[in-house]
Amino acid sequence: NKYKFETILVNIIDDSIALVTFNRPKALNSFNYQMGKELLDCCRLLDKDDNVKCIVLTGSGTKSFACGADIKEMANHDMAYMMKKGHLIDNLCDLREIEKPIIAAVNGYALGGGCEVAMICDIIVAGENAVFGQPETKIGTIPGAGGSQRLIRAVGKSKAMEMILTGNPIDAQQALQFGLVSCVVPIDKTIETALKMAKQIASLSPIIIKLAKVTVNNAQESNLTEGLNIERRIFHSTFALKDRSEGMNSFANKRKPNWTNN
Ligand code: HXC
Repeated sequence: NKYKFETILVNIIDDSIALVTFNRPKALNSFNYQMGKELLDCCRLLDKDDNVKCIVLTGSGTKSFACGADIKEMANHDMAYMMKKGHLIDNLCDLREIEKPIIAAVNGYALGGGCEVAMICDIIVAGENAVFGQPETKIGTIPGAGGSQRLIRAVGKSKAMEMILTGNPIDAQQALQFGLVSCVVPIDKTIETALKMAKQIASLSPIIIKLAKVTVNNAQESNLTEGLNIERRIFHSTFALKDRSEGMNSFANKRKPNWTNN
């Protein structure tokens, strides 16, 4: 395993799935600068690793996925320091550039930057004890890694406003009801469920999955007409790929597809 870090653990499962675990349990897996940097470095390496088809992010233990930025580390920073390029906020925000699918397996608290990282992920699987919140206003600031923008897209204006203005979190069932997460499962099944999804994704053509991710993400960036145009172009472009031909011909010939990532 070439993925050695201090604040996160990386397990490569079935040679194709990277299970990345935030590992600062004493601070409820809050992000200090090092953990944010290691997470981004790690995901960028995984993105380039041809064996890895899907990434699963989770927290050590079941009490917390990630409790946000490390408040103690951040407490005495000034504006100029926070604005420096490559600070924690950049490292978390830049996770959006990862091209491979990322699934968040969330048990316990996903607060502040923890909720923001979960929302950067493509799919959120929640354990029954999951708690999602943007409590920054309670400590004199506002969400800074996408929370104010992604939450409103996920749960709508009224709920997002309620969560951000009061700082009150929502539980797993509410998160499901509002469409923030894709499913709620027993706590001891959270990682298993995410890995099962990851395995299914990993069995498909990586280049097609990459195009699918970029196309769906584009929906949040554009109006309907533009989004449909881009979808059409990317759909057409799959017809330049061997894996598109392989997918359809293997179906027609009743055999398993042999993806070549071309
Ligand atoms: C630093 C944290 C922390 C955090 C928990 N801890 N969250 N340390 N930064 N974000 C530490 C506690 O200080 C404590 O350390 C230990 O973890 C256990 O936490 P407790 O508070 O004792 O646990 P509990 O009573 O069960 O309460 C759990 C909790 C509470 C409700 C989640 O810890 C909490 O409110 N945490 C802060 C959550 C938060 O506000 N996050 C947003 C951060 S701002 P000791 O040493 O005392 O044992 C943010 C901005 C993002 O994320 C901007 C982009 C990066």
